[in-house]
Amino acid sequence: MVTMLKIALSKGRIFKETLPLLAHADIIPIDDPETSRKLILDTNQADVQLVIIRATDVPTYVEYGAADIGVAGKDVLMEYGGEELYEPVDLQIARCRLMVAGFPNAITHHKRLRIATKYINCTQRYYAQRGEQVEVIKLYGSMELAPLVGLADRIVDVVDTGNTLRANGLEPLEHIADISSRLVVNKATMKMKHAQVKAFIAKIQEAVNQRQ
Ligand code: ATP
Ligand code: PRP
Ligand code: MG
Repeated sequence: MVTMLKIALSKGRIFKETLPLLAHADIIPIDDPETSRKLILDTNQADVQLVIIRATDVPTYVEYGAADIGVAGKDVLMEYGGEELYEPVDLQIARCRLMVAGFPNAITHHKRLRIATKYINCTQRYYAQRGEQVEVIKLYGSMELAPLVGLADRIVDVVDTGNTLRANGLEPLEHIADISSRLVVNKATMKMKHAQVKAFIAKIQEAVNQRQ
């Protein structure tokens, strides 16, 4: 009997940057998620499928065992929290920094600094550690707009080149964490499909090492 290994990936940069690592493990998807409407992609390996989901949903699918393995940004994992996932490999892809950004030298008109972000847990933790009381406003995207229209004093978002901040007159102000994408594995999978997963992890780690 074939034991199927399901790998959860998000479209876009994670999919693109994970493809060469999978290729090193001799896993090649048959369909392209950017053109296909399919959410489960078969691969050249009869026992490996790719599940295409939103980046923030990857830890959920893997924790519940709906996917055995996933690729998720450290930002997403920090925000998700919990201890329920193995994180065996730092894939060193989709590298960026989680930062506080805003207008330089801005004066707040609010009693508490207002911070707009999709990373509400990370933001609350960050300011709590500094002993600062802030108001965190949950957004789902385009955080850079919030200071421009007076919704918030600052934002917490990932920054790579800084182009998006610059284009909107904002600056990176405080560094919270260095981010890269990680391989995550369901705990039961690790036990039940041990040989298959161990071999897969070894191949992926080898691919990462060869790129350094
Ligand atoms: P969605 O588009 O579904 O809201 P998302 O914006 O989180 O999700 P991506 O933009 O593909 O999805 O980001 C996936 C991961 O890549 C993030 O969790 C982060 O770790 C990393 N990332 C995000 N933006 C950048 C960037 N500009 N440069 C490098 N890595 C990035
Ligand atoms: C991400 C992030 C920033 C931008 C930072 O957005 O949310 O807006 O990248 O990268 P930069 O410093 O190189 O400009 P993304 O490109 O993922 O678009 P999204 O809004 O669709 O998530
Ligand atoms: Mg994005």
